[in-house]
Amino acid sequence: MKSLKIVIFSSIIVGLVFSFAFASGDVVKGKALFNDPKLGGKAGKSCNSCHPDGKGLEKAADKKEFNLGGKKQNGIEEAVNFCIEMTLKGKAIDPKGTDMSNMVAYIKSIAKKSPSPAAGY
Ligand code: HEC
Repeated sequence: MKSLKIVIFSSIIVGLVFSFAFASGDVVKGKALFNDPKLGGKAGKSCNSCHPDGKGLEKAADKKEFNLGGKKQNGIEEAVNFCIEMTLKGKAIDPKGTDMSNMVAYIKSIAKKSPSPAAGY
């Protein structure tokens, strides 16, 4: 009886985690945007040019505050827009828009991908 409760309880948790993940953006579309030079100005660079496969962004999803270029950014959306405007010379995207939530979903997925000590290979 106890194990049945555990099974039911864990399926609820898994369900919640999944619905949350879907509600908060599309990782595949975010990755495409991350690799898309359209975010930038004329240079033809994308986020991936400086953060290949998300390099340097492994901890970004957990931060509330950033300090880029001597300025403070409150939240990952501001940090993303900082890089769009200052490094890519592009136009900031809507912090509450779909593109941003997809981008943030991709950045969060980077953190999960970083090797865990348990993997052992
Ligand atoms: C010209 C190189 C360059 C490009 C292009 C670039 N970045 Fe960055 N980015 C940096 C540097 C340098 C830092 C600051 C160094 C650091 O803290 O890792 C940074 C920091 C960040 C951070 C904060 C990381 C942290 O944990 O403090 C985020 C988030 C970020 N970039 C997202 C993006 C996104 C999204 C794009 C594409 C829109 C992008 N960057 C394009 C160079 C770049």
